[in-house]
Amino acid sequence: MTAAIIDGAAIAERMRAEIARDAARFTAQYGTPPGLGAVLAGDNPASAQYVRMKRRACEQVGFTSTAHMLDASSTQEQVDDAIRRLNDDPAVHGILVQLPLPPQIDEERALRLVSLDKDVDGFHPINIGMLGMKGREPLFTPATPTGCMVLLRESGAVLEGANAVVVGRSNIVGLPVALMLMKANATVTVCHSRTRDLPDIVRRADIVIAAIGRAEYIKGSWIKPGATVIDVGTNKIADPNTEKGYRYVGDVEFATAKEAAGAITKVPGGVGPMTITMLLQNTMKAAWRLASA
Ligand code: GUN
Repeated sequence: MTAAIIDGAAIAERMRAEIARDAARFTAQYGTPPGLGAVLAGDNPASAQYVRMKRRACEQVGFTSTAHMLDASSTQEQVDDAIRRLNDDPAVHGILVQLPLPPQIDEERALRLVSLDKDVDGFHPINIGMLGMKGREPLFTPATPTGCMVLLRESGAVLEGANAVVVGRSNIVGLPVALMLMKANATVTVCHSRTRDLPDIVRRADIVIAAIGRAEYIKGSWIKPGATVIDVGTNKIADPNTEKGYRYVGDVEFATAKEAAGAITKVPGGVGPMTITMLLQNTMKAAWRLASA
């Protein structure tokens, strides 16, 4: 069997077109566009690239974007001040504090400072707490896990009662996606670097979320026939056959996994394009909420 490909790029494009129409309606109604504010501290090239991509995406859907670029030696006061200024700015509806922050900055304190109404990354401890609790709903959910859930929904996967295995327990992906799968009534197992017999656990999964950040770690022989596989990994590997000398692969060995899975995402073109789309969608929601408050 060869898996159906879950086309994140196409789904993201369709959703961004909808967000752009929504943004135009918002701007016509309120005379000012939805706005995203970002705080970037330090010189991590991947973070700088993410922030650039997020700002470009804002422009494409008709949002404004504001960025506070702080250097690697910034103090907690400078980071806190940038967040407070975005909290107080009426043209900013959503705030994103790009992670990781430099080691001298208390991440928990920074994330807690973001106004709940503008917490479009869903990383405020109150939003994460609500996500984990039965009968509660957070205002916003983190972008990458939300993108995974949209891809699962679009693939037609049944979550209710399904065995879902999340490989990776990061605050940004593994933990929140596990909470979201629980809310969707899946039976969730979270695996990590110290998990024993990982292949056997993955073999029982109807749904696999791969978010460990190790190139092609999960093999096709581990995948239950017909399972749905969402690959969050983006790992750069050397490839002298490409023009640039490198390419990106996921956490799943795609060539073998696609022979077992019922549906699978590709890297690139799977989860990646969804992440920024979910951030835009959350910002749109924040703008409507704040404007009508
Ligand atoms: N760093 C890696 N992924 C993310 C993300 O989704 N949001 C933020 N703020 N930082 C990140």
